[in-house]
Amino acid sequence: MIDFKQEVVNAIFEVSNGLDKEEIESLIETPPSYDMGDYAFACFRLAKIFRKDPKSIAEELTKKIDGGDFFEAIENVGPYINFFINKSKLAETVIESIKERGAKFGSTNMGQGRKALVEFSSPNIAKPFHIGHIRSTVIGNSLYKIFKFQGFDTERLNHLGDYGTQFGMLIAAYKKWGDMEVIESDPINELLKLYVKFNEEAEKDEELKEEARYWFKELEAGNEEALELWQWIRDVSLKEFNKVYDLLGIEFDSYTGESFYSDKMPRVIKEMEEKGLLQESEGAVIIDLEEYGMPPALIKKSDGSTLYTTRDIAAAIYRKEHYDFYKNIYVVGSQQNLHFKQWIKVIELMGYDWADDCVHVPFGMVSLEDGTLSTRRGRVVFLEDVLEKAIESTLEIIEERNPDLNNKEEVAKEVGIGAIIFQELFNNRIKDYVFSWEKTLSFEGETGPYVQYTHARANSLLKKGNFKLDEEIDHSLLNQDNEVSLLRFLYQFPAVVTDALNKYEPSIITRHIVEITKAFNKFYNSCPVLSAEEELRKARLMLVYVTKVVLKTGLDLLGIAAPDRM
Ligand code: ARG
Repeated sequence: MIDFKQEVVNAIFEVSNGLDKEEIESLIETPPSYDMGDYAFACFRLAKIFRKDPKSIAEELTKKIDGGDFFEAIENVGPYINFFINKSKLAETVIESIKERGAKFGSTNMGQGRKALVEFSSPNIAKPFHIGHIRSTVIGNSLYKIFKFQGFDTERLNHLGDYGTQFGMLIAAYKKWGDMEVIESDPINELLKLYVKFNEEAEKDEELKEEARYWFKELEAGNEEALELWQWIRDVSLKEFNKVYDLLGIEFDSYTGESFYSDKMPRVIKEMEEKGLLQESEGAVIIDLEEYGMPPALIKKSDGSTLYTTRDIAAAIYRKEHYDFYKNIYVVGSQQNLHFKQWIKVIELMGYDWADDCVHVPFGMVSLEDGTLSTRRGRVVFLEDVLEKAIESTLEIIEERNPDLNNKEEVAKEVGIGAIIFQELFNNRIKDYVFSWEKTLSFEGETGPYVQYTHARANSLLKKGNFKLDEEIDHSLLNQDNEVSLLRFLYQFPAVVTDALNKYEPSIITRHIVEITKAFNKFYNSCPVLSAEEELRKARLMLVYVTKVVLKTGLDLLGIAAPDRM
């Protein structure tokens, strides 16, 4: 695709003798509205070099500049030189690139030969997969897709919380009150009940706490009975989690959770010792981080058992050795900011220069509109129930709007789930947000169903218009304001994807495809497509086609399906 900004740089470079291209690029601004141009070059810097006032420099240069056929006008206003993109060229470059690249439009090969690990979801086993977990799951999945799209060799890791003192409690509780059959009938709920009961009883009875510690130590030591119980708890939990992942259409390449690192810790602790990092404090082993304004990192508890932090350190070292990553990304809530700062600092103190390549991608919390998410199962809101409800409600909407649709169930699933994912990815990830059923499932406004519906509408337009991809069109016919505005949004798509990657921020894509959707609907409402005369009809159908392609790619990068009909 033509890089119009680069063409501005080239045009200025030819006449500015003295500035290098990078500097010129840094001086290019985007005017507040397109009637002032697509790009503006401010002449203050050149004025200094030439010792003239910026206005006359701008005036002089404007006369000299040759923008080739990339620009339809180059105008001088005060100290600025304003560039107006040649609209026919814009249409041509956008349409021809999308035609040529199809679903790859917007991708680059910036990730070639580079490994990117994306760790996300990572729920704790034997605990409900609740509404709070969905954020990590969908943000992580989208980042995975974005990195993959940009050519990275990408790996999805689920760092299951399958280790720690709570398993000591669970094993102790199971041995006291557990019943395998009961648990298997509704694993997570029953395990949760056991866990809650154990905690309540342990409040009154110190001995229970002792038992829990005993069983966790046994587990770490490889006691067969403990291991077997633990494995069973892990299996039934994973089966439950997989129901949610299946609904969301999300997969992982590895489920090496915390337990996987238990035998990899002694080596790491020894290494810390040799590097002189460890200190004793009240019977525990710590790394002092006061110098860096942080509380100490706990490496070993006073009873000798290892900790969450230690496992993260061991995991990072393992990942570096095993994958030799370029980026090691963690999508984990902002409550754990300090934890990540601490252990990444420890990696740095151990002398590993790749500490900088470990990236914590935090996000804010979801809260619930009062009552809207309460479910049959009581207080805890299970994600599976939320997803099922979204599908059900969408099916009702479809029954109302389009009762003759084929495969209604399938579409209801794609739209209902898509709606939830879209809501999650619409706001800047760091912001807390309130989940609202009404907003999520609406077919209008800034929602998933609105984008999906527009995509389906584009698709049916193409069908009705008997669209052919190899049709030659006259690009200059796409010159109405609403056509040009849509073309501009499509033109920006590749830069938007790169920006989303650099900022680890899928919402940049979500918002942009909403802009494309709005621009498309404006175009559609103001520019007749099927009833236009032959040449214009062909050109407009082509615009419909390229929009459809980009919407589909955008939705795909978010992990949302794009049904052809709905
Ligand atoms: N299991 C943890 C939780 O649910 C999240 C794990 C985050 N990942 C990590 N490498 N520490 O809170």
